[in-house]
Amino acid sequence: MLSEKMAEALNKQVNNEVYSAYLYMSMSAYSTFIGLKGFANWFMVQYKEEMVHAMKIFDYINDQGGQVKLMPIAQPPTEFGGALDMFEKTLAHEKFVTKSINDLVNLAIEEKDHATNIFLQWFVTEQIEEEANDNEIIAKLKLVGKEGNGLFMIDKELAARVFALPATSNESQA
Ligand code: FEO
Repeated sequence: MLSEKMAEALNKQVNNEVYSAYLYMSMSAYSTFIGLKGFANWFMVQYKEEMVHAMKIFDYINDQGGQVKLMPIAQPPTEFGGALDMFEKTLAHEKFVTKSINDLVNLAIEEKDHATNIFLQWFVTEQIEEEANDNEIIAKLKLVGKEGNGLFMIDKELAARVFALPATSNESQA
């Protein structure tokens, strides 16, 4: 069972994850618009992953007898300053998500809610991977600078990313 406070905080995280999906959907659209189809693919895969994150929490609230309360989704930015700018914004956003997950863990510990604490550990680990992926791509983008060939190579690499349900997730895809 969930306390009111814990349920409210988890509902806020559902919103954070759906906003993340929306943000990456917007970056995918922008990537297509500027001719970077590989980046568009990468962000669309990211959009799907974020919906899985949202649904994991959605299902958990339901499983624990809490009430899911959906909130408005804020409008994401629609204009970006190119590939590096999108990934720097992605990393900044993921750092915000990491902080929100850490705050949830702190609340679960405070409330002596062991089930929610265990549930959240998957997200703690996931955030390490998310930030590492972004850092790696940012490093590559900085290396090639504005050089067209390098950007084309990275675009090709990002085109190969495929969506797979996270290994520990048995939730259905949104
Ligand atoms: Fe669901 Fe990218 O954090």
